[in-house]
Amino acid sequence: LKNAFAPKTQKLSQIPSFRLSPQASSYNVAILGAAGGIGQPLALLIKMSPLVSSLHLYDIANVKGVAADLSHCNTPSQVIDFTGTSELANCLKGVDVVVIPAGVPRKPGMTRDDLFNTNASIVKSLVEAVADNCPSAFIHIISNPVNSTVPIAAEVLKQKGVYDPKKLFGVTTLDIVRANTFVAQKKNLRLIDVDVPVIGGHAGITILPLLSKTKPSTSFTEQEVKELTVRIQNAGTEVVEAKSGAGSATLSMAYAAARFVESSLRALDGDGDVYECCYVESELTELPFFASRVKLGRKGIEAVISSDLHGLTEYEAKALEALIPELKASIEKGVTFAQKQT
Ligand code: NAD
Ligand code: LMR
Repeated sequence: LKNAFAPKTQKLSQIPSFRLSPQASSYNVAILGAAGGIGQPLALLIKMSPLVSSLHLYDIANVKGVAADLSHCNTPSQVIDFTGTSELANCLKGVDVVVIPAGVPRKPGMTRDDLFNTNASIVKSLVEAVADNCPSAFIHIISNPVNSTVPIAAEVLKQKGVYDPKKLFGVTTLDIVRANTFVAQKKNLRLIDVDVPVIGGHAGITILPLLSKTKPSTSFTEQEVKELTVRIQNAGTEVVEAKSGAGSATLSMAYAAARFVESSLRALDGDGDVYECCYVESELTELPFFASRVKLGRKGIEAVISSDLHGLTEYEAKALEALIPELKASIEKGVTFAQKQT
């Protein structure tokens, strides 16, 4: 076990999404909400990245202990803790990627939209600080309802005059992680080979896995498509119910968010072959925000990939049509909230 997590033998290198660069680099990453259920395991996974030189952990409480604990791992990055709003600006200065899992999670019986009243203000105030202190950073929004919190973040950045739509991302990676897992299980495929694009948004029917675009090419019965789609759409609720009031997905979310951070760092580092699905400003549909595959580069989104939306099955086309009104309403709710606050 000696050196199991040392950079040169790092086990994450065996997972394709965590490919190591030939040379370690030096990027600064901040997690806002770092003492929480997602924040802690996410901090651990990011601490294992050889691309990170400095990991800034911010929360309103309990972050000192998390940072002290993590700082004993013998991986290269330095861990620094920041507590409370008076330390937020310092946390953000010089940061390349900001990840925001701050906010409350669901309990059984709640929708993600039920979190809006609490989380909208949290995201708004944190993104204001990002705009003031690291306006060029990639911003990863995890806090729910993602369908609304990303439009809120965009409005805040616009109000501050620093909005770069290529650098604002709603993190939907967990939907892809789940789709890949469930499809591999159902069809007896090697997990490592499976890639299912998931488009739309991140709540209920707005989560639309495009099973017809599964790689490797795989055929599904109508029944399988229905069952898998519904399972992927309800997977968050599956975890919320299993946790019985103790919160929502944290470990799988941290895994998914770490993959998205690592992809962003690889893109910043000049890797020309980085693609991820995420919820971004988009012209693919009539909606101003939409999740799809994008190509990431040094300056953020280099291209929004439209080809996945070509040649949809009848089931997928109908599901896409059906999700539009709900996603539109969630986007408008976020925009209205942010504009009312000015
Ligand atoms: P949690 O309650 O365990 O942790 C949230 C953390 O945020 C806490 O440590 C809390 O102190 C902190 N926080 C609250 N207000 C803050 C503020 N103003 N500034 C900084 N930190 C603040 O919750 P969790 O399980 O980590 O979930 C966090 C959020 O992520 C929830 O909104 C949840 O719905 C969402 N989530 C999203 C996805 C996704 O796929 N995008 C998946 C899972 C969970
Ligand atoms: C998830 O998909 O697990 C998250 O959005 C959390 C939730 O409330 O379901």
